[in-house]
Amino acid sequence: MSPFHLTRTLPEDTTDAALRCDVQEGLTGSPKTLPPKWFYDARGSELFEEITALPEYYPTRAEREILRARSEEIADASGARTLVELGSGSSEKTRHLIDALTGLHTYVPVDVSESALTLAGEALVAERPGLEVHALIADFTARMTLPRTPGPRLVAFLGGTIGNLLPAERAAFLAAVRTLLAPGDALLLGTDLVKDEEVLVRAYDDAAGVTAAFNKNVLTVVNRELGADFDPDAFRHVAVWDAENEWIEMRLRSRTAQTVKIPALGLAVDFAAGEDLRTEVSAKFRKEGVRGELSAAELELTRWWTDGEGRFALSLSVAR
Ligand code: SAH
Ligand code: AVI
Repeated sequence: MSPFHLTRTLPEDTTDAALRCDVQEGLTGSPKTLPPKWFYDARGSELFEEITALPEYYPTRAEREILRARSEEIADASGARTLVELGSGSSEKTRHLIDALTGLHTYVPVDVSESALTLAGEALVAERPGLEVHALIADFTARMTLPRTPGPRLVAFLGGTIGNLLPAERAAFLAAVRTLLAPGDALLLGTDLVKDEEVLVRAYDDAAGVTAAFNKNVLTVVNRELGADFDPDAFRHVAVWDAENEWIEMRLRSRTAQTVKIPALGLAVDFAAGEDLRTEVSAKFRKEGVRGELSAAELELTRWWTDGEGRFALSLSVAR
C-alpha cells in the first residue's frame, strides 16, 4: 500500500454547509465577521506560503529557528512514534521535528486545505522513505477522529495558529486536544508573543501587499462557492492592534456604500462606506497566559523555548 493516504473526514457537502452557515451568520451580525479558515483554498494556501517569506513576517523564521535548535530536545522528551500536526499547511518547518524523531512511524497532517495536504504529503513520502503519511482533511475546531497509529503521540500545533481562535474557541480547542492525549503523549504549541505594535502591524500589512491579497482571497472564495458578487477592489485591507485583547485584527474596509448579493443564501448585504468586515484575529501571548490556558484544559506546561529575539515561543505540555 502507498505510504501516503489522504482521508476526508469532512464530506464536501458538510464543508459547503459550514461555509453557508458561517457566511450567513457572519455577514448578518454586527460587526460583520468571517472565520479565518475560509482563507485557505489552493490560492489562499499559496499566498500564506508567500507571507512566510516576507521580510516583515517574522513568526515563521522565529519558529523555524527554535525548531532547528530544539527538535532533538523535543524528540528526546516525547519519543513519539506518531506525530499529529494540526493546521499543517506546507509541513515545511515540521521537517526538523520529523528528522529528529528517530522512532517516528506515522505523520498525520491535519488541515482544511486539500491542496496543501497533497503537496506536502507527496513531497514527504518521496523525501522520507519508510515514513507513513496519513493526511486528514478535517476542521481542527470540530471533533477529530485520528487514525489508529502507534504511540506515544506528539500533537503539534505550530505557526501561532492557535492565536487565530477567539479565547472561548481556544478553551474548547485545548480541551478537545487534551482528549487526544494518553499518558506519555504531549502537545507542542507555537505561540507568537506580545511585542511592539509597530512590528506587529507591519507583519500584517506588508509593503508588497501579499497579506492584503491573502485577506481579500476570502471574498474570492465566497464568490466562487456561493455565487456572491464581492468586488475585492471595493475593499481595503486593514491591520489593527487591539491593545486590550492583545491581538491583531485583520479587516476588510468597504471603500464605499455598497450592496453585495449572495445568491446561494438569497442574501443582500449592505456595507456602509468605511464599514469593516473582520476576517481574522491573531492573538499574541505571554508565558503566564499560555500556562494558564493550558492549565484550564488540564494540560501542564513542562518546557518553554523562545527564539534569540524573544519574538515567538514553543511550549511542550502533557496531560495532568
Ligand atoms: N502550520 C503551518 C501553516 C500555518 S497557516 C505553519 O506554521 O506555517 C494555518 C494552516 O491551518 C493553514 O494550512 C490552514 O489551511 C489551516 N487551518 C486553518 N483553520 C483550520 C481549521 N479550522 N481546521 C483545520 N485546518 C485549518
Ligand atoms: C496562520 N496564522 C498563524 C497566521 C497569523 O499570523 O495569524 C495567518 C496570517 N494572517 C495574516 N498573515 C498571516
